[in-house]
Amino acid sequence: ARWLVILAGGRGERFWPLSRMMHPKQFLTLMGNHSMIRTTRDRVRSLIGPENTWVVTGQDYVDKVKTNLPDVPSSHILGEPVGRNTAPSIAWAAASIYQEDPAAVILILPSDHLIKYQKRFQKLADLALRSAEARGGFYTFGIIPTHAETGYGYIEHGSEVEHGILHVKRFVEKPPLEEAQGMVESGRFLWNSGMFAFKAEEYLTALRMLIPDLYEGIMALIHHPDRVDTIFPELPQVSVDHGIMEKVKNVYVLPADIGWDDVGTFAALARHLPRNDEQNAAKGHAIFVDSQNVTAISEGPVVSFIGVKDLFVVATKDAVLILSPDRSQDVRQVVQALKEGQ
Ligand code: GDD
Ligand code: MG
Repeated sequence: ARWLVILAGGRGERFWPLSRMMHPKQFLTLMGNHSMIRTTRDRVRSLIGPENTWVVTGQDYVDKVKTNLPDVPSSHILGEPVGRNTAPSIAWAAASIYQEDPAAVILILPSDHLIKYQKRFQKLADLALRSAEARGGFYTFGIIPTHAETGYGYIEHGSEVEHGILHVKRFVEKPPLEEAQGMVESGRFLWNSGMFAFKAEEYLTALRMLIPDLYEGIMALIHHPDRVDTIFPELPQVSVDHGIMEKVKNVYVLPADIGWDDVGTFAALARHLPRNDEQNAAKGHAIFVDSQNVTAISEGPVVSFIGVKDLFVVATKDAVLILSPDRSQDVRQVVQALKEGQ
């Protein structure tokens, strides 16, 4: 059968003060009416039911996931005592699913991405799952790059294997800027969107070959779930991209024109909010007087602007962030300062 695995371990430090330690990005309602994790689950409604959904998250977030996804069986929500990156998270889910269904095909989705064209995405996800069932292999979803982003993985595509599916020649996770520039200019590369489809069995087989320590650790965990607090922290810390995707041979990519954004920063979020004639955008109550290109997000206070431009302001009931729009990568410095007790 088909299964969905949602990765929800992110700590969302770049969205302070909207996100807090206990309320990271996947639980925020940044767009639309529901939290990002709920939107992610609903997005594949037509393909995979909640009873076939698993979520891997931090132990601290298990209850929040349950509240956000009440239809997902609580035994399917796996809480990690510490984050060991995505290869162990996927391994834990894949091994759990494989026990129940050795023929399982799984779709892996990050819990905190924006996809504007739902129908197109559903078609592609369906195609990827069908191909994984029929042909086997590892399926990725490739986005046409718009700039030399160093925070993404790059996929060099080869020839077409069937309509809409290309061979992957090379997978390059987070290249340095110059390499990224070269890749974008060449026109042969797509961004890796961080979503995958493959058979649970193939993932576990690849894991046993490529990261045997992780494979053994996960097998121990499956047989002794009560020992998660001792087993999990000992697992190798590695992403699925570096650990598996860069190394396996049969990787495929589906070019995906789906209006995708990983909305990693306030700048990314700002691009998706509707603007008025003066280029101001508000989520929550804001008043603009003679102001331009201002983005205001308020969870309560009325925020008002007079004669200012190019600002980003976030107000919650107990914190305010005033940000230059080109500095949204640096918000985590505030979080760092708070952690250090400043
Ligand atoms: N449960 C769990 N545990 N989830 C995790 C962990 C973990 O330890 N680490 C990350 N995740 C979740 C995050 O919440 C996110 O939804 C997803 O896995 C991807 O992790 P990121 O940390 O956001 O990865 P990235 O952005 O650096 O890179 C990945 O995504 C890019 C696209 O957004 C890679 O796949 C890149 O190749 C890709 O371009
Ligand atoms: Mg990310």
